[in-house]
Amino acid sequence: IDRYAVIGNPVAHSKSPEIHAWFALQTRQNLQYERLLAPLDGFAAIVRNFISQGGRGANVTVPFKLEAHALANVLTERARAAGAVNTLKFEADVIEGDNTDGIGLVTDIVKNAGVPIAGKKVLLLGAGGAARGVVVPLLLEKPAELVIANRTQSRAIELVRQFSNTEGNFHASDFAALASPFDIVINATSASLSADMPDIPGAVFGRNTLAYDMMYGKQATVFMQFAAQCGAVTRDGLGMLVEQAAESFLFWRGVRPDTAAVLAQLRQSL
Ligand code: ATR
Repeated sequence: IDRYAVIGNPVAHSKSPEIHAWFALQTRQNLQYERLLAPLDGFAAIVRNFISQGGRGANVTVPFKLEAHALANVLTERARAAGAVNTLKFEADVIEGDNTDGIGLVTDIVKNAGVPIAGKKVLLLGAGGAARGVVVPLLLEKPAELVIANRTQSRAIELVRQFSNTEGNFHASDFAALASPFDIVINATSASLSADMPDIPGAVFGRNTLAYDMMYGKQATVFMQFAAQCGAVTRDGLGMLVEQAAESFLFWRGVRPDTAAVLAQLRQSL
């Protein structure tokens, strides 16, 4: 039986085993998917051990996405652009690294939420790994404008510099300078983890703004509550989680599962 795993620290909370078990059932693929807790200084050793025991692929979560990028000896284009890897595929001596987070976000916004990104004004909050991973997939959708705003503005400026595009519609900003509504506001900061709200003006939210938090939970995040009070439509990151998993499954197995039923089931189980 083909073995897969999610590797992280912590990893007990990960919903990936459930999601991939549903995908396997649905597509009639015979595989096993487990959780692997790696010591903070032992990621590569865990991966090599898993490969030697017949592992075919792995998802990689916090805090190992940069190490997974370094460990891979082949990278997909989007993994190179993200500078981080959330999916590894093992074949003979090859460790191939991919990053499905960005495409997962875009698919959830465009297909599941039905909100086109093309031609829209998009605000991305945060400049850490989560934000960096979604910049190129967002730009590929051809938004009218993509603004990155971060509490520490210098990090936003640095991120924009790394990805500066030919259209010139990609800018950095600090929070205080944000003064007018965007069509889509994406929270890629880790603020929701500690029930914090990025200190942004309510003016970024208009009546038809989609306020998207990459985090999810049983309750709406503080970001979503604030955005809703400002009149925005809100969505959490559960759909992104399922869509990135579907892209990983496709990368490993060559079939893309149907995500709608799995997302509904997962929502119920929160
Ligand atoms: P990740 O990989 O999850 O992106 P990270 O690289 O540590 O984690 O980045 C965390 C991001 O969340 C940063 O953009 C951080 O802003 P700073 O660069 O100013 O530190 C942002 N962040 C975390 N807590 C925040 C808060 N309470 N308000 C606003 N931004 C916050």
